[in-house]
Amino acid sequence: MLTLDSVWKSAPDQSQTSILQDCTYTFEAERIYAILGTSGVGKTILLRTLNNLAPIDQGRILLRDRDIAVLHPVEVRRSVSILFQTPAFVGTTVAENLAFARRFSRRIEVDFTALLERVHLDSSFLDRPVANLSVGQQQRVCLARTLATQPEVLLLDEPTSALDDNTAGHILELVREINDREKLLTIFVTHRRSHARKLGQVILELADGKLKELS
Ligand SMILES: Nc1ncnc2c1ncn2[C@@H]1O[C@H](COP(=O)(O)OP(=O)(O)OP(=O)(O)O)[C@@H](O)[C@H]1O
Ligand SMILES: [Mg+2]
Repeated sequence: MLTLDSVWKSAPDQSQTSILQDCTYTFEAERIYAILGTSGVGKTILLRTLNNLAPIDQGRILLRDRDIAVLHPVEVRRSVSILFQTPAFVGTTVAENLAFARRFSRRIEVDFTALLERVHLDSSFLDRPVANLSVGQQQRVCLARTLATQPEVLLLDEPTSALDDNTAGHILELVREINDREKLLTIFVTHRRSHARKLGQVILELADGKLKELS
């Protein structure tokens, strides 16, 4: 489904050995992968390469056998959605934030209420300023926005690191529920082994420029 084929990627500051060194790995459709790795090893950059936000130096990344480097960037962003560590916003209200996703969506209309339902928020949130929401609610809104483009792949970069254990647990449950229902390939970066075990069907470690299966 999503394949790294002999990928090389240097660190942006060039100061260390490459983040990816001849890395080959295939992520199968519909599964949940958890990626562990020490801080600074390149987990965030790996995710950014997977939707072509960060170009690779050598090799290929294939999305359903198509090289993402030659696909239209909007098509790649639409198909491969990313949720960052801390909530990032592009408008004042929840509705404005969800509307932003229309830029990448094949559909002309996005059903905001249905999107919020998928992250267990009701439509009364639509007119609320995102700045006034709790961080857990903000992360749900961001998750809803990533789903608005009907992606095939969901990339999650430590989506719970800004949250307390309880709220983090809810977000992980939500991700599992979304994966079950929508059959998205889900790739989840975390530094917490307990979260990796809780959510990951396959647990990987990024080390020495390669992805290795731990389970
Ligand atoms: N914009 C940038 N400019 C220069 N160097 C960068 C930039 N972004 C990341 N790096 C460097 O690239 C390396 C990998 O960074 P990355 O953010 O991918 O690590 P990480 O595994 O996600 O770490 P963490 O677990 O702390 O989030 C680090 O050495 C980092 O300092
Ligand atoms: Mg990171």
